[in-house]
Amino acid sequence: MKRQLLDVLNGETTFVSGQQMSEQLHVSRTAVWKQIEELRKEGYVIEAVSRKGYRLISRPDALNEAEIRSGLTSKAFGQSVHYEKVVDSTQRIIKDLHRNKAAHGTIAVCEQQTNGRGRLNRPWQTEMGQNIMFSTLVKPDISLQLAPQMTLVASIAVAKTVEAVTGEQVSIKWPNDIYLNGKKIAGILTEVQAEANCVEMMVIGIGMNVNESKQSIEENDLSEKATSLSIETNRTYNRRDVLQQLLITFENEYERWLSVGFASMKTEWEERAHLYQKRVTVKNVNREQVGTMVGITDEGVLKLQDENGDVHLVYSGDLH
Ligand code: BTN
Repeated sequence: MKRQLLDVLNGETTFVSGQQMSEQLHVSRTAVWKQIEELRKEGYVIEAVSRKGYRLISRPDALNEAEIRSGLTSKAFGQSVHYEKVVDSTQRIIKDLHRNKAAHGTIAVCEQQTNGRGRLNRPWQTEMGQNIMFSTLVKPDISLQLAPQMTLVASIAVAKTVEAVTGEQVSIKWPNDIYLNGKKIAGILTEVQAEANCVEMMVIGIGMNVNESKQSIEENDLSEKATSLSIETNRTYNRRDVLQQLLITFENEYERWLSVGFASMKTEWEERAHLYQKRVTVKNVNREQVGTMVGITDEGVLKLQDENGDVHLVYSGDLH
């Protein structure tokens, strides 16, 4: 109801009468008034003039359910939203929601995480209300071997979204980091649940530094490695617009992947490959491989060329 009310107010530049809203939404005028009060408590500025009605003046910079779903044109991604201001990790929330039969495309989103996780059990810490952190529940009908490609598909979606909103070219560091001007602006954490060889569900967690300030990145000792869209482009972003665009792009890329396979998306990934043709080291728990990064296979596996020209395939690890 709150979202529908917002949709009505959003679509109008002039006043909308309480009567009109109650008719459109099939609820009483008292119910409309109560929802207007609720929206005001959440930071929406709504002007009310007697005999004219209500007019939306401004919206809060929040990633709540009504904000995300209002005007969102995706089919499934983000059409069901679990929002809590502070959570331990949105990855954990999606796993719980899955146990309670949540639908494909459900997202968990927050303003801050107290136990945000990155790859290889690293922490993912960011400032309250400045960035985008969310996890998506996806239920593809695929075999387990294809699951790692999902991270690459998500990286293409994040890269395209950042490019569209900033106008800047970004790069993707295999397998899951997005870079802007040589520093990390987003990361992806993919977790899989499988039954025998079939994927039952996947949780795709995306963290993107959007409006975080230089000072806050410095305070967290990350200024050598990390940055934000705002620092790199000298402007602030409406996080809701960025998230909506990301959800739509992610869903498109995901569907493309399921229908035509990763091989046809490989070029789009390689065009953005970070450290392409550079000498790199890939670290694994018990192994280190050195070579020239010469791209990825049709399956998304990293290709490293040694000094004899032989190409080695790398399935997992940390690239430097
Ligand atoms: C990485 O770069 O290592 C991956 C970072 C992934 C962070 C996101 S933020 C939303 C979701 N919840 C988490 O706890 N982690 C992911």
